[in-house]
Amino acid sequence: MKHLTSIRELDRDQALGILNLAEELAQVNARDVKKLPTLRGKTVVNLFYENSTRTRVSFEIAATRLSADVINISSEVSSVTKGESLKDTVQTLEALGAAAIVVRHPNSGAPKQLAEMGWVGSSIINAGDGSHEHPTQALLDAMTIRQLFAADDLTGLSVLIVGDLSHSRVARSNILLLRLLGAEVLIAGPAELVPEEMTAMGAKRFNELDQALAESPNVVMMLRVQKERMSNQFASEREYSKDWQLDSKRLGSLPSSSWILHPGPMNRGLEISAEAADDPRSAILRQVANGVSVRMAVLHTLLAADA
Ligand code: CP
Repeated sequence: MKHLTSIRELDRDQALGILNLAEELAQVNARDVKKLPTLRGKTVVNLFYENSTRTRVSFEIAATRLSADVINISSEVSSVTKGESLKDTVQTLEALGAAAIVVRHPNSGAPKQLAEMGWVGSSIINAGDGSHEHPTQALLDAMTIRQLFAADDLTGLSVLIVGDLSHSRVARSNILLLRLLGAEVLIAGPAELVPEEMTAMGAKRFNELDQALAESPNVVMMLRVQKERMSNQFASEREYSKDWQLDSKRLGSLPSSSWILHPGPMNRGLEISAEAADDPRSAILRQVANGVSVRMAVLHTLLAADA
């Protein structure tokens, strides 16, 4: 495997292979000296055209722990502001020695285009492209769910994904990966924010959050409302919260054995109440921590073969 731009590039064994490797690497991350020599001499470039906290920092930590050299570039401080194209930018980075380029881009399909056009020999990793996919987020979510239920694959588990599904690259990658690993996927959100394609991907749709919660899903994944990607699809925060927030009342109806996930960043008080975010059943910070091990596993898988 040279690139990771979509969960569609993985079969079940490859996905489980990355998750199993991430578990091994999590043991390294629990040591005092959290370092392996695997990628010594290689350079990983984080090229971010959109803001990020979790993904960028965890890729940086992951590459550093594998002894790679890491360079972070954001579009605001690069020659992109002078009009340099994505193609010229990545070719420049490869000429500077990048073995892998981790790309976050507002255009859906940009990382896939880079991987397929053959403009560079570097490995391309999708760190979130528009509303399309965020494969390493889905992998860290699957790692978290496997840990929470001491499961190998996710057969027999149900995961409810709630909220602004249409703008969510996290939801698209999660539906693909959760289904690949055997989970049942339920979705619920406002009619204007639930695309038809998601039922075609195998998700079971509910028109009301309370109806979906009555199914007692093992995991409830709340999604951020992405107002920055909306034009007129969002009328009122009050209405949205009333219908779609995981609030204290809905939290009370959630089985004690269910877990709450959120990819972050959270809009506390909009899609998720502070009580839900901080509830003992919230595994949100565990997701963040697992991001380092999963991204180490992805870098290891793509780059270590010829290390
Ligand atoms: N989940 C996620 O992608 O968060 P960041 O935007 O902070 O990277």
